Formats: sequence, C-alpha cells, structure tokens
Amino acid sequence: TKKNNPVVAIDGPSGAGKSTTAKTLATAIGAGYLDTGAMYRAATLAALDAEVDLSSADEILSALNEAKLEIGTTVEDPYARLNGESVDLEIRTERVTAAVSQVAGHKKVREHLISEQKAAINAARKKGGIVVEGRDIAEVVAPEADLKVYLTADEKARASRRALEIGATASDTAEDIKRRDKADSKTTKPMEAADGAHVIDSTKLSVVEVVAKLLALLNDRGIDD
Ligand code: DC
Repeated sequence: TKKNNPVVAIDGPSGAGKSTTAKTLATAIGAGYLDTGAMYRAATLAALDAEVDLSSADEILSALNEAKLEIGTTVEDPYARLNGESVDLEIRTERVTAAVSQVAGHKKVREHLISEQKAAINAARKKGGIVVEGRDIAEVVAPEADLKVYLTADEKARASRRALEIGATASDTAEDIKRRDKADSKTTKPMEAADGAHVIDSTKLSVVEVVAKLLALLNDRGIDD
C-alpha cells in the first residue's frame, strides 16, 4: 500500500545534490532508486555511438532501440547498460554531458523514456517504493508522488559539487552548469519548483541534514513507519 511504498520525486537543477540525497533517502527507507538523468545520458551515448543526427528524434529512438537500454532501480546497483554492457562511467563524460540537453529536448525521446520511468515506478509501488530524481518528476513523470521535493543550492555550491564529482575546477563547471540549466529550461523547468513541492535549499546543509528533513516530511504524511 501507499503507506509502506512511498514514491518520492526529487527535482532540481544540476549540482543541487539530487543524486546523493536521493540515494541516501532511498537507503534510509529501504526504497528503490531511479536516476532519470542517467536514462537521458544513456540515450545520448547510444545516439553518439551510432553517429546519428542528434536533431532527429526518430534516428535517436532507433539508435536507442538498437542499443537496448537497461537501468537498475536499486541504490546498491543503479546500473545503466547498453547492449548488456555497463556504461555507468561513459554516460558521465564531457562528450555525453555536452549533447544530453539536445537529446532530452525531443518530445518523442522524452515520451519513450517517461513511459519506461512510469513502468519502473508502478512496479515499485507494489514493492518498497522508490525515490526518483530528475527535472520533471513531480510535474510529469509522477504527479501522484507521495512526496515532492525541489532541491536547489546557490550557483557557487552547485558548481563546486559538480566539480568534485567530475574532478574539474569550480570555475570550469560554473559555466557548464549555467549553460546546461539554460538549455534544459527549454524542455523542463529545472529552475522552478512544481506545485506541491517542498523547496529545500541545500547550500548550507549537509546530506544528512537534507535527508533528515525529507524523513520528517515523510513522517508527517504518515508514510514512513
Ligand atoms: O541529472 P543529470 O545531470 O544526470 O541529467 C542529465 C540531463 O538529462 C540534464 O541535462 C537534463 C536531462 N534530464 C531531463 O531532461 N529530464 C529528467 N527527468 C532528467 C534529466
């Protein structure tokens, strides 16, 4: 039932701390975990590897269908695979990051991935619940989520978090983040909280503090017991 199998939507811009927060929360409540950004990244990698025209949704979709994307929905093993092979590292490279906004900008590509995301969420509803991170989860993918969170942080904090993740300097990634958030804003609303979402600014909070807030919100709803 709903009470024991919560669906939690975590949206927000690049570098807000969504992944760490989502994984930590999922572990704390024994729920699954779905990184929808990894799906857009894997679709991008499939399209780049197939050397298709990134302005064509149909070509991207056929490359994606060829490549058989599989995505793990547990914190222990949140794999992304193409043709059975792990692409966890490859999907985070600059080559993919630079192209992902264009790929994610196609309505047809989104519809395809969103239907897979909905299927994963439906399966988790019967088994443990799930924490889903992305840009459009509360508004489009899981409007019926039990808890909606908009996680943000100031530009400087987001840049230095991304830099730590990818081993670059903060000044390099401040530009990259701005560019990507702007490109993503044509498709989703990374800079805006959805209706009914709890806004959490993580600039001055640790992961533990953010997760404690989320656990309290779940508790308030009588979900987490
Ligand atoms: O969260 P991330 O940086 O791994 O996401 C990669 C890209 O995918 C991001 O630039 C925008 C896109 N994305 C999206 O359009 N919708 C989502 N639900 C998740 C990601």
